[in-house]
Formats: sequence, C-alpha cells, structure tokens
Amino acid sequence: MARKKFVAGNWKMNTTIDEAKALAKGVVETVGNVTDVDIAVCPPFTNLLAVAEILKGSSVKLGAQDVHWEAKGAYTGKVSCSMLKSVGVTYVIVGHSEQRQYFHETDETVNKKVKAVLASELLPIICIGETLDERKSGQMDSVIERQVKGAFSGIEASDVTKCTIAYEPVWAIGTGETATPQQANEAHIFIRKIIEKLYDKEIAASLRIQYGGSMKPENAKELLAQSDVDGGLIGGASLKASDFAGIVNPV
Ligand code: 13P
Repeated sequence: MARKKFVAGNWKMNTTIDEAKALAKGVVETVGNVTDVDIAVCPPFTNLLAVAEILKGSSVKLGAQDVHWEAKGAYTGKVSCSMLKSVGVTYVIVGHSEQRQYFHETDETVNKKVKAVLASELLPIICIGETLDERKSGQMDSVIERQVKGAFSGIEASDVTKCTIAYEPVWAIGTGETATPQQANEAHIFIRKIIEKLYDKEIAASLRIQYGGSMKPENAKELLAQSDVDGGLIGGASLKASDFAGIVNPV
C-alpha cells in the first residue's frame, strides 16, 4: 500500500505568541496548499489556539507536543486530550526523547498517552530511538524493540495505522549529525518488522514511519527517497518557514 508522506514540525520550547503567528503564516504561505504530503506543525501549548486560527482553510494540521493521559483533575501543569481537541489539535507527539531524557517519560507512560490520544480520536506521533551509547554498545535493536512493544501494548489492530512512528536517533537530534539515509531506512525496516510480528503484514505496510534528527532541506530529498522513510519530524529546521517548506518540497 502506498503510504502518503507526512512532514511535521516540532517547534519544541520556541516561539512567543507573535513569533508563532508569524511562523504559522509563513508555513501557510509556503505549503498551505500542498495536498500530496500530509503536513502538521506542533507549537507549544500557549500558541495552539492562535496557530489554529491561522491554519484554518489550509491543508496544514495542528499538533501538540505532549499530553497527559488522565481526562482531568488535579495534575498541575498538565494538559488533557479533550483540552487539545477543543483548540483544534489533530496530532499529538508522544514519547519524545527529550521527554524521556528530562521528564521521566517511560515506555509505560508513553503507552498510557497513546491509549488516551486514540480514545479521544486524536492521532499520536510516537517517538522512539536509541542513544549513541546504545547504538555503540549494540543495544540499538533491543532498545527500539522495547520502545515499540511498550508503546503498542494493548493497542487494537484497528488503531495501529492511526499512529505514526517517528524514528529519532537521539544522537542525531539537534546535533547537526544526521543518520545516513541507509541507517534511517534500515531502522525503519526493522521497526516495520516489529509491527508485522505484533500485528500483520498489511498493518505494518500501511503504518507511516517518519525520520527525525537534523533533517533539513539539504538532506531531505535523499532521506525521503528511501523505501521505508515516510516523512520527517523536524525540529530546528521547522522554525524557519522556508526551510520547512524546503523539506516538504525537496528540490
Ligand atoms: P532537530 O531537527 O532539531 O534535530 O530535532 C528533531 C526532533 O527532535 C524532532 O522532534
């Protein structure tokens, strides 16, 4: 089955309200009419509503960078799925390596978030990826397998293709060091095999797997040309509309 490419910008902890509006306008002007690639931007929570207004009528969808799995209550500092939905969010990034590294995200909390996101009819972007130490010490496959199995534990077959996996090798995030297209593709093929074992061939063949880690206009074309790279989750280069557009439409 042909998989439609999906490019999402993860703005991380960047943009004040004015900066977010300007960036969102730039994204709409450059790629707002693109329909052969799915596109999303994921601003910080404070800017979601304003960006939603700007994206209206364009093909660019709104994403959030995290969510809490509980529906509501005494969870100071957290935001729920229904809150995200109420401001027009479609996608939710879950399990980003920065959440895993700095904010105690575990495979278990990732799984709870994935379940909550799907139950709210939102679409999760599930981030996985090994650190440099894990790659060097030969643990890459076991780490990826553990993260994928953890994220999909108890997820119904009918929900799997609502998910996107973002393979983000931690050593490539924000470092300027990109996985080679071959390294990325090998990892994506490996991830797809895990999904095939957990579910079946058809589901594995339909699931989209983005690459993330220092992706930019200069390296996007070759990465996106790989058989199993179905798009990108873009950090730094998503903060400049022209760079982001250059990844959506690589020349
Ligand atoms: P960079 O593109 O800045 O390396 O970040 C990738 C990333 O973490 C996207 O979620």
